[in-house]
Amino acid sequence: SVADRVDDLMSRMSLDEKLGQMTQAERGSVSASDVTAYRLGSVLSGGGSAPSPNTATSWADMYDGYQNAALATPLGIPILYGVDAVHGHNNVAGATIFPHNIGLGATRDPELAERIGRAVAEEMAGTGVDWNFAPCLCVARDDRWGRTYESFGETPELPASMAAIVTGFQGAALDGPASVLATAKHYLGDGGTEGGVDQGDTRLSETELRAIHLPPFEAAVERGAGSVMVSFSSWNGTKVHGHHYLLTTVLKEELGFTGFVVSDWNGVDQIDGAAGMSALDVRTAVNAGVDMVMAPTEWRRFIDLLRSETQAGRVPQARIDDAVRRILTKKVELGLFEQPLTDRSYTATVGSTAHRTLARAAVARSQVLLKNSGDVLPLARGGRIFVAGKSADDIGNQSGGWTISWQGSSGDITPGTTVLDGIRSSAGSGTTVTYSRDGSGIDGSYDVAVAVIGETPYAEGQGDRPGGLGLDAADLATLATLRAAGVPVVVVLVSGRPLDIAAQLPGWDALVAAWLPGTEGQGVADVLFGTVPPTGKLPMTWMSGFSQQPINAGDGKSPLFPYGFGLTYEQAQDDSSPPGAPGTPVASEVTSSSARLTWAASDDDVGVTRYEVVQVQASGETAVATSAIASATVTGLEAGTDHTFAVYAEDAAGNRSPRSGTVTVTTTDGGGTGGCSVTPGTQSQWGTGYVVQATV
Ligand code: IFM
Repeated sequence: SVADRVDDLMSRMSLDEKLGQMTQAERGSVSASDVTAYRLGSVLSGGGSAPSPNTATSWADMYDGYQNAALATPLGIPILYGVDAVHGHNNVAGATIFPHNIGLGATRDPELAERIGRAVAEEMAGTGVDWNFAPCLCVARDDRWGRTYESFGETPELPASMAAIVTGFQGAALDGPASVLATAKHYLGDGGTEGGVDQGDTRLSETELRAIHLPPFEAAVERGAGSVMVSFSSWNGTKVHGHHYLLTTVLKEELGFTGFVVSDWNGVDQIDGAAGMSALDVRTAVNAGVDMVMAPTEWRRFIDLLRSETQAGRVPQARIDDAVRRILTKKVELGLFEQPLTDRSYTATVGSTAHRTLARAAVARSQVLLKNSGDVLPLARGGRIFVAGKSADDIGNQSGGWTISWQGSSGDITPGTTVLDGIRSSAGSGTTVTYSRDGSGIDGSYDVAVAVIGETPYAEGQGDRPGGLGLDAADLATLATLRAAGVPVVVVLVSGRPLDIAAQLPGWDALVAAWLPGTEGQGVADVLFGTVPPTGKLPMTWMSGFSQQPINAGDGKSPLFPYGFGLTYEQAQDDSSPPGAPGTPVASEVTSSSARLTWAASDDDVGVTRYEVVQVQASGETAVATSAIASATVTGLEAGTDHTFAVYAEDAAGNRSPRSGTVTVTTTDGGGTGGCSVTPGTQSQWGTGYVVQATV
């Protein structure tokens, strides 16, 4: 049995051989002969740490070099080689780059996540790499946090369901073909820090911490995730890397996690608050339950410190044995002893057509249509389309962080399609597609302008934005140029999180949240042209202003777009104002207790400073929401009941004029979110309105 094999190995291991198994070094700081001499248990490539040339074959050769060095030790225990393949095997040039997790969350499709996990595992297997530091199961609660895009979503349920990707990475059996070890990270509370500060402090009661942040890890453990990575963050002031209760009592004992716990990069060093790795750091982490330490450059020091702490009895031998047993168990289960070297039959899957086809479909599924006035989308073929924006023709921008290099790269990503490539290809030869990055050259002869704008790549440590989440000056200038031409503007927002766009939104005719789609920009164009209908739903609540941060589902704030929001083209069709009734409100999303109302700003709305949403009742009207923009969410609705709303526009002097029409929302019991069908025809005091039947 696996246990017998592990026991046999353990009975023949010296203390130093055990300490070696608990050590992970970075490839740039460790040679193959070090692996042999120190009996190291693991090597990693940190973000962007690649062999030269950066090809799948060089990776396989590098991996085999380290693995052969491990096999040359007396006990021949193979290493685990780990990378952050967080949206594809993304350190390898030519690999398929899938949408980042935030986009996958928008698909609401765990089965798709599992298929993507399988594809990523195959590409990894083709380079030898057998351990993935993914998935990130953070529940991102504050958009200021730079790692928000690594989250599947802001609710505990969404990342928990998408933990299905673990099964994709690990396959049906760990020793099956192209199975790689998954890592549920970062345990626990990484997405809940105060102010969205990376590596910050998560200040929550235990009840809140468990309710919000634990469910995705429970799901990953149930799916047999082989490893868990500790969060750099603290829980109420205590570093999780030294938290015995969270790592041992909750994770290992309560959840029954039988895999091993790995630290984050130098994460152990932070425990005592002083710079560098101390004996106290090492002792506290290992005694708390850390089984393998990612000590990228200081791995010799880690071994020395752990040896002296163990020999002095400050780290019990039983704790060392437990850690090593956990690591060896996964190595045996993975079949590493039987097949330690790269299975090169998978090398050709790196960037294969099949995987790119899957990625393209995932991109299309992840697009969230947030606005579509006048049915400007889907784009028509045969006319004149102007494309602009810094991310329209930039495969690095659209891929985001953790792509080839740590902070994202526009180099070495081949092949792939940019959004512009996709638009050109979807438009076909009978359509004129003109591109300029900044919008210059546009004139009124175009039917529509598509602006592909948003964020540029960042990874951990670089993406926190405590001061604001607005568009940058270049994007604003591009938008101004396009708007000045007087043609409808479609914005495709490439970003790792909701941005602060409420002030600009009224000037846009359509808005698609594209997230960070990866190498297959064609998937964005598939939705823009309606080849694939938009079905994505927001994985995060979208702020109506930066001051709302942090904003999350159910917190009573009035967002620009609620969690779960996403239009389809059918809804958008109904969303258009009929002739003579500009500004008619419609409900675009209804739950059992809230409804999202949107209305088109009409030509009469010049000088409007705010809108007021009123509930129309037999007894009169009651104001239920105000908004500076052409949408609002009303909450507190009674399930199974009709609610009718109307909207007034108000100028600075307090003059009010009704937007024509009312909207009746029928909530149904049972909760959840869903679309609604809209049928014109209800008579109200302002003319013909709409009846909205929720389909929750
Ligand atoms: O896996 C990552 C982690 O998410 C952040 N710090 C570095 C690790 C290894 O690259």
